[in-house]
Amino acid sequence: MTDEQKDGLGGDGVELRDSEIVEARQRAEEAVEETVLPDESPLAHLTGEPGMAKPDPILVADAVGRSFGGLKAVDVGHLEVQRGTITSLIGPNGAGKTTLFNVLTGFDRADGGTWSFDGRPVAGLSAHRMARRGMVRTFQLTKALTRLTVLDNMKLAAVGQRGENFFNALVPALWRSQDAELEKRAEELLERFKLAKMRDSFAGELSGGQRKLLEMARALMVGPSMVMLDEPMAGVNPALTQSLLGHVRALRDEGMTVLFVEHDMDVVMGISDWVVCMAQGQVIAEGTPEQIRSNRTVIDAYLGTQYDEPGAEE
Ligand SMILES: Nc1ncnc2c1ncn2[C@@H]1O[C@H](COP(=O)(O)OP(=O)(O)OP(=O)(O)O)[C@@H](O)[C@H]1O
Ligand SMILES: [Mg+2]
Repeated sequence: MTDEQKDGLGGDGVELRDSEIVEARQRAEEAVEETVLPDESPLAHLTGEPGMAKPDPILVADAVGRSFGGLKAVDVGHLEVQRGTITSLIGPNGAGKTTLFNVLTGFDRADGGTWSFDGRPVAGLSAHRMARRGMVRTFQLTKALTRLTVLDNMKLAAVGQRGENFFNALVPALWRSQDAELEKRAEELLERFKLAKMRDSFAGELSGGQRKLLEMARALMVGPSMVMLDEPMAGVNPALTQSLLGHVRALRDEGMTVLFVEHDMDVVMGISDWVVCMAQGQVIAEGTPEQIRSNRTVIDAYLGTQYDEPGAEE
């Protein structure tokens, strides 16, 4: 067989070459699937504009408002978050990011608006009902929580998010029926977040970084489908930042949706499938990290003061 025939480029022996070509094509297609598709976000080729529709949104918000006195902290016309992505929420201090998180997750009451999660309307549901539906947010460890052990923190996260009264939950009969199951899940998560050795320590004894890991681990106790992280890396050293980012990616790779407030633009650009920018309560831009990096509105409202974009024209 000539080299030409081996390559399947013309010449004799058509039948043999055809089967080889089919095989080679299959191998090539498999290789392409293996190397390209897993990294490809479903949003990679969309052109962003504020409020744009997504192919498969897990969260859809309409006309969500929250005012404090005369100040309109949140005034979001329309926002969709694509399922299974890491979406970052950026914007200057006071833009309304945390308030939007609180409202959507039921920790604060909206003045108006509707939103749906996983196709069902959820506006006005309490935080524990939202958690039961699969949407959770992380919380900084309060002083009270630092006086509980790491393991009890984990168990309490599940109970609290389920909406059961803490003291009822401590009634022995009720508690015991759930305890074994909760403890198993807690231990798996503590293992995953490298906190297993600390399970019986008080949360107050943890380092700053370990506290951040515990905050994330607590949120996972209810087996959520969407996790909202408000500056999960704030004040953490660079090595631990990388480890936390690895955990955030792992959540997405397991199929969870992550909505993530972060000020460090290198982190945002590195980890996000999609970026939403808020200013003065409103969504002013959204797009892929590449689009946001060079978006004039975003640069003017936020990035100009945050981040020296090498490609930005001035
Ligand atoms: N409980 C509250 N009472 C009064 N005003 C509030 C309250 N919570 C937030 N605000 C105001 O609402 C606006 C939005 O605040 P928010 O904390 O949501 O901003 P943010 O985007 O999270 O800012 P940062 O990046 O600094 O965390 C700010 O002007 C803030 O002062
Ligand atoms: Mg905030």
